[in-house]
Amino acid sequence: MSKKTLADLPDLHGQRVLIRVDFNVPLDDQGNIANDHRIRAALPTIRSVLDAGASAIVMSHLGRPKGDPQKDAVYRMDRVADRLRELISRPVRKMDEVAGPAVTVAAQALRPGEVLVLENLRFHHGEQAGDADFARQLAALGHVYVNDAFGTCHRNDASMVAVPAAMGGKPRVVGHLVAKELDVLDRLLSVPPRPFVGILGGAKVSDKIGFIKALLARVDRVLIGGAMSYTFLKAQGKEVGSSKVESDKLDVARELLTLGQGKILLPLDHLVVEKLDAPRGAKIVEGDIPTRWIGVDIGPSTTARYAEEIGRAGTVVWNGPMGKFEDEPYSKGTRSVAAELAASKGVTIVGGGETAEAVDEFGLAEKMTHVSTGGGAFLEYVEGTPFAALAQIEDYCGKKS
Ligand code: 3PG
Ligand code: MG
Repeated sequence: MSKKTLADLPDLHGQRVLIRVDFNVPLDDQGNIANDHRIRAALPTIRSVLDAGASAIVMSHLGRPKGDPQKDAVYRMDRVADRLRELISRPVRKMDEVAGPAVTVAAQALRPGEVLVLENLRFHHGEQAGDADFARQLAALGHVYVNDAFGTCHRNDASMVAVPAAMGGKPRVVGHLVAKELDVLDRLLSVPPRPFVGILGGAKVSDKIGFIKALLARVDRVLIGGAMSYTFLKAQGKEVGSSKVESDKLDVARELLTLGQGKILLPLDHLVVEKLDAPRGAKIVEGDIPTRWIGVDIGPSTTARYAEEIGRAGTVVWNGPMGKFEDEPYSKGTRSVAAELAASKGVTIVGGGETAEAVDEFGLAEKMTHVSTGGGAFLEYVEGTPFAALAQIEDYCGKKS
């Protein structure tokens, strides 16, 4: 279903546009922005709105605040607003409130070309409760609603669903980022150039059961890495030493292997350590992992085998690291997969979250066809979950080229 976009809006001169973005960026130990991909990804929409003679009211959540003002201070939107100001080079004012009289006054005082950033939406209990009163306050701020928060489209928070619902009668469209994400994923799901290869990693099978099933129905091959591979190997009766295993998911893993009917490739060899914090004692083992040793990355034979598959692929979709890549000595497998995707002549799509961060960190993001800003949203969209947030956006009824 195609959705109305910024191109379908009437003249925006002098209008206030309420834009829901996903500025839920990763923060380091000091609360600094560790990766600003999501902020940069929303710039085209904010710029379009400002260039059209409108002002922008930008709203997002950040992290998962617990309601303790002291502990939650790290989730204030100040640094995000600062980063936005640097990137966009336009007047950006940050509010210390989420909603209320001060916000209303500031919104009404906006002049064309100016940006107002609201405080973290999740500081207000109404956001995750989907509260209608809270939504009405936000809805009253803008003449137009834009959803450019692809990473949050799988959530039913007030700003995603109740706010556009309260703006019935006003234009409600998706921004450039959401339009691009939907376009890439829809094309990927309908007519992927083949062979179509899925690469899956990360810690848990349980997080990705639906995604694996959805992939198996569409792809020609699934390459598995990361800690989830030990659950699959154990399910096949292999020895995995002291590697991380989801013991209660062995049946699910077996079911997926049966469903996969030979499409699934598991690691042939592993980088293993006796202690996670002793990378110098690491070694490569083929097949079974000895008692007490822990798998931390895929080994070189696996890397080579996976590289062959990626090299042949017409489409690759990748979600989840191949090992404990945040520790440099265990990052080879993930780096190698990223490099193979970067070198591929096929369509390459990287799911958001830590996979997107890894690709960014390796300096390879520009070499991919698409790096999604969605973590959970990316997985759920590929699974085919309908998003209530998108149902609130007007459908495009004409023909698009
Ligand atoms: C995400 O990063 O997955 C989105 O921003 C949604 O955040 P949440 O998982 O805390 O709801
Ligand atoms: Mg999430």
